[in-house]
Amino acid sequence: MKRVIFLLLGASAFFLLSCNSESNRTEETSLASSIQEPSYQEPHRPQYHFSPPAKWMNDPNGMVFYQGQYHLFYQHYPDSSVWGPMHWGHTVSRDMVNWENLPIALYPDSNGYIFSGSAVLDQNNSSGLGTQDNPPLVAIFTYHDPVGEKNGSQTFQTQGLAYSLDQGKTWKPYEDNPVLPNPGIRDFRDPKVFWHEESSRWVMVLATADRITLFASPDLKSWEKLSEFGADIGSHEGVWECPDLFPLKTTTDEVVWVMLVSVGSGGPAGGSGTQYFYGNFDGNTFQLNPSCRKALSTSENKAFWLDYGADNYAGVTWANIPEEDGRRLFIGWMSNWAYAIKVPTEVWRSAMTLPRTLSLEALEQGMRLKSQPVKELDLLQGEPSQILPQALEGTVDWSNKLPSGLSTWRLRMELDLGDSNDKDFSIHMSNEAGDTLTLGYIASEDKFYTDRRQAGKVDFSDAFPQVHKAPRDDSDQILRLDIWLDVSSLEVFADGGLTTMTETYFAEKPFTQLTWQSAEPIQLKEAKVFPLKSIWNEIRLK
Ligand code: FRU
Repeated sequence: MKRVIFLLLGASAFFLLSCNSESNRTEETSLASSIQEPSYQEPHRPQYHFSPPAKWMNDPNGMVFYQGQYHLFYQHYPDSSVWGPMHWGHTVSRDMVNWENLPIALYPDSNGYIFSGSAVLDQNNSSGLGTQDNPPLVAIFTYHDPVGEKNGSQTFQTQGLAYSLDQGKTWKPYEDNPVLPNPGIRDFRDPKVFWHEESSRWVMVLATADRITLFASPDLKSWEKLSEFGADIGSHEGVWECPDLFPLKTTTDEVVWVMLVSVGSGGPAGGSGTQYFYGNFDGNTFQLNPSCRKALSTSENKAFWLDYGADNYAGVTWANIPEEDGRRLFIGWMSNWAYAIKVPTEVWRSAMTLPRTLSLEALEQGMRLKSQPVKELDLLQGEPSQILPQALEGTVDWSNKLPSGLSTWRLRMELDLGDSNDKDFSIHMSNEAGDTLTLGYIASEDKFYTDRRQAGKVDFSDAFPQVHKAPRDDSDQILRLDIWLDVSSLEVFADGGLTTMTETYFAEKPFTQLTWQSAEPIQLKEAKVFPLKSIWNEIRLK
């Protein structure tokens, strides 16, 4: 309902924009040129995650690696810190850790707002938008026409192109947009495009209401429908959004295709969440692996979730990563539609997750998708404090291991849970104001949990103060935890990323206290706390 209201508000702003696009453009350009101004020291501002310099951000878009730069675009409304007429904000990085803010790349035009989508390098200039010598970067995105929506049309979402001939710095909408008209499906959006080598053509996965539709094109301009996937499987509590489809090599060198699908509600922690499927793509159809189909048709949850926390949505992967790198790199929006527009930040709203490497692990119960923080993040680490191996029992205070006064640290630990199922434990991150964020493990259920009910400001939405649970998929008695804290976010990678939980919180003061609790002794094999640097220091010092 709230999103409908915002769409309507957005529609009126769009009229203004179309009536007076020149003066608005000037206003926006001056806004864009002031992007270095925020201090990045506002309350709750993440220090090593990407967040927009100012105003509203949602989904990551158009992620493409080109000439040494990771481009990241994002759904952005530069005039307010709530959702509105969508633009593509733009930032670049050489390491996915330090980001340089660039001017807005795409503005709404007469076809509508610029919703989510992807970008590719058109190496052979198949689109003709560049030249053989200077191949274009092409963005493929959804146009959302608020006027059509308001008038009750069903065809107000179409797909358009924009291209860049200067290594992604500036972007021009294609003159014959839209390139893929709407066949009468209200929710028809978020194209993710990739080059399919075997059939020498482009393939697009598009969210079309309750399923993903696949299209193919020789030139990015004319698209032919190939097939559909998913109407009968997976979580369908909300509309399907932001798909991605890519191959991953398993540890036994088998190629398995993974489909990511974000779903607007019914996620594992309530509200929005991202599910995945695995199977085969033959150039025409995506077919589920029988073990994936079986697990999904019999499991209570009906979905495999990429992340069990509340705050990892609409994530997709980077295009054009060089073969010698070979990683499948992912980033998600670190928020949730259940409360995104209400979170207690002022200058800007929301951040991206840490960049992650995705991989597949074959377990007895089938394949599972793993997410691990990218190795480049090690750049942020200072000298660690060590916690010596010991049997942990009762309350153990590790506060003196934390960097003083800062909520930017990483805790890596390895525990031996033994073989009994009474090894419950909890780790408490807290401050002098009495705010506490808890991460724990319930042995009898074999589940992790997070509890942010007392972690600071929570009353801005009923959907926020909750306990979230995540299954432990690994059966090893050695448990590895990798915990990242950044002022207002917690990311937990358990068992090398087999279970992931991403959560935001809004504490009044930094978490400078860290304690362990367990009723039974649990063997700590190794633990280290790393202080993490701010990526915005240089900007602050300018
Ligand atoms: C997902 C989403 C997309 C859409 C965009 C609009 O969060 O709803 O489906 O393109 O956000 O901002």
